Amino acid sequence: MEIISTIADLRQRLSTEKLVAFVPTMGNLHEGHLDLVRIAHQHAKFVVVSIFVNPLQFGANEDFGKYPRTFQADCEKLKACEVDVVFAPSEAELYPQPQMVTVAPPAIAQELCGAFRPDHFRGVTTVVLKFFNIVQPKLAVFGKKDYQQLHVVRQMVEQLNVPITILGAETVRATDGLALSSRNQYLNPIERTKAAFLYLMLVDIRDALLSGEKSHDKLETKAVHQLVAHGWEVDYVAIRSQQTLSAAEPGERELVVLTAARLGKTRLIDNIEVCL
Ligand code: PAJ
Repeated sequence: MEIISTIADLRQRLSTEKLVAFVPTMGNLHEGHLDLVRIAHQHAKFVVVSIFVNPLQFGANEDFGKYPRTFQADCEKLKACEVDVVFAPSEAELYPQPQMVTVAPPAIAQELCGAFRPDHFRGVTTVVLKFFNIVQPKLAVFGKKDYQQLHVVRQMVEQLNVPITILGAETVRATDGLALSSRNQYLNPIERTKAAFLYLMLVDIRDALLSGEKSHDKLETKAVHQLVAHGWEVDYVAIRSQQTLSAAEPGERELVVLTAARLGKTRLIDNIEVCL
C-alpha cells in the first residue's frame, strides 16, 4: 500500500491505472468505512482511499478542531483491506488559496441537516468534486449512513455530467443498532447506552408505516416527543421520499425516515429506508 500526499504524485501513480474505485473519508476509520472499501474491491482491482478532514464542511462552532485524527491506525486497517493507495493531502495541498470556486448543491441541501448546518453540503460537494477530478475514478462508494450527503453527491454527478458511478452502501451498525460513526466516541458511557434509542425509534416508525399508518406528521411528532422524553435534543425526524428527499407525496411507496438529534454535546444522525 502506498501513502501519497501530493496531487502531482497521485496523478503520476494513477496515470497507468484504467479502472480505479475511490472511497473518500475523513479518517478515524471503523467497520462502516472498511465495508465501503470491500465494496470498492468488488468492482475494481485498484482502490484509492482518501483521508482528509475537510475544513470547508465544518461550521464555525463545530468539531473540526477536535475531530479524531488517527492516521497510523487508519493506515494499518486499510493495509489489511488491501487498499492500493491512501491519498492523504495536507490542507495546504488541497486548498493552496482560499477556495473561491465552490459547487452550489441543490436546494434540498438547505433542508434536514442543511437547516442546522448551513454551508455544510457546499463544503462536501466542493471537496468531493475536487477529489473526483484529482483521482478520476470510474466509481466511488458512499455510505447510506449519510443519506442526504449521498443524495446530494448523486445529484451533483448527474447534473454536472461527472463520468463516475456512485454506489451507496448499507449502514454498518453496532450490535445494539447504533450506526457506527467517528462521533460515537464523543459519547460518555451513559450516553452510549442511551444512543441506540435513535435507531429503535426509526425501526418503530418503519413498523408503523408498514402496518398502514398514513399520517407522517403524527409519526414524526410522536418520535420527537419520545426522543425528548429520553433526554435527546432533536433537530428533526422526517419521513421523506427516497428519490427526492422531499416530503413524500400521498401514495409514495419508497420512503426514508431521517433523523438528527443530540445527546449531550454529541450530534448523531441516522436513517432507515421503508418500502411499502
Ligand atoms: P466520513 O464521515 O469519514 O465518512 C466517509 C464515508 O463513510 C461516507 O460515505 C459515509 O457515509 C460512510 N460511513 C460512515 N459511517 C458509516 C456506517 N456506519 N456504515 C456505512 N458507511 C458509513 O462523509 C464523510 O466522511 C465526508 O463528508 C466526505 C465524503 C469524506 C467528504 O469530506
